Amino acid sequence: MSDFAKKIMITGGAGFIGSHVVRRFAENYPQYFIVNVDALTYAGNLENLRDVEHFSNYRFEKADIVDEKGITALFEKFRFDAVIHLAAESHVDRSILNPLAFVRTNVLGTASLLNIALKFWKASFASKLFYHVSTDEVYGSLGQTGFFTEQTPYDPRSPYSASKASSDHFVMAYHHTYGLPVVLSNCSNNYGSNHFPEKLIPLMINNIIHQKPLPVYGKGENVRDWLWVDDHAAAIDIIFHRGKIGEKYNIGGFNEWKNIDIVHLLCSIMDRKLDREPGTSAKLIQYVVDRPGHDMRYAIDPTKLNEELGWKPSLQFEEGLEKTVDWYLNNEDWVKHVTSGDYQKYYNLLYGKR
Ligand code: NAD
Ligand code: DAU
Repeated sequence: MSDFAKKIMITGGAGFIGSHVVRRFAENYPQYFIVNVDALTYAGNLENLRDVEHFSNYRFEKADIVDEKGITALFEKFRFDAVIHLAAESHVDRSILNPLAFVRTNVLGTASLLNIALKFWKASFASKLFYHVSTDEVYGSLGQTGFFTEQTPYDPRSPYSASKASSDHFVMAYHHTYGLPVVLSNCSNNYGSNHFPEKLIPLMINNIIHQKPLPVYGKGENVRDWLWVDDHAAAIDIIFHRGKIGEKYNIGGFNEWKNIDIVHLLCSIMDRKLDREPGTSAKLIQYVVDRPGHDMRYAIDPTKLNEELGWKPSLQFEEGLEKTVDWYLNNEDWVKHVTSGDYQKYYNLLYGKR
């Protein structure tokens, strides 16, 4: 293992974004040794990484980031040079049902990881990096105009975003207090393959396939800023290699959509792909009780990342959505596997009430 230029722990690598980041790093950097550390919660799935598991520079370790002994043992074993931290509880609706699970993983888990990294690296911070992957939701909710910049004050409004904001503060506090070399990014909503079907886009795709109701919260007018997941992974790659220590970067592609417009677009794409009469799937739309505290609008200003590090998104949304739908149509077994068991219970609990 000493032959590798860097040994990198990627946490949450079996999840949606994490699996794209692991694949990118394992494929593009054979000189790096990638250890995917994931507890395999309901959201973690090693099927996401079937094509990577045989790589000689990749290894999976099942561990909970809150388990201080387990993570310390991994640091002892692999002597990591860097951590790219994605492991989290990530779904806002679940955070409303069970906020303390979010405090445990997102706050305590992140603080514990920082503490262990500090312990192992404090003799020399040279060539070390703790990269924390965060969300635009820490900034709160926008009105009709304006964008989140890196200077926007934090104003989290759901248990999920409060736990992520707290984790961001711990990351910056470890930098300011102890000098830990950190970098942080806040990204907008991702979409693409391997997205767990509890989130808007894959949930709607799955329900359209099975001709189930399409539950739109409130009036469907909330706005999200959507980014192709591989463009997020590319941004993480650039920031990991060239980001300034102690700085944060916003990631987003100026791609705002009202929820109801996305649902209509998906309906028409899928009517075409499934040879259904135009208008068939839209009949499944049902307006349901709104998410409590539902943030109205997110919109990222990624100018800093674009101007300082040269990143820009590669894909138009309509093209990305077509590719995403194709992936779900071609991977029905993946969806079957992740939606069996516990997910069914969660779905009935959440949507049974709405
Ligand atoms: P996800 O829910 O799909 O995956 C999370 C992964 O973390 C899973 O593999 C899960 O098993 C693992 N995990 C959860 N708790 C753990 C624990 N205690 N110990 C070890 N592993 C654990 O999430 P995602 O959508 O891929 O998000 C990844 C990261 O990116 C999160 O930090 C999230 O806040 C952030 N983010 C997500 C989005 C988005 O649109 N999905 C946007 C911006 C930022
Ligand atoms: O902005 C980044 C964040 O985006 C990430 O940090 C989170 O991890 C990720 O889950 C996502 O949060 P959102 O709450 O924006 O995503 P979600 O897919 O849950 O919802 C998108 C919008 O769609 C939101 O306005 C709520 C609405 N919605 C969602 C679901 C699941 C519906 O109308 N119906 C639904 O069934």
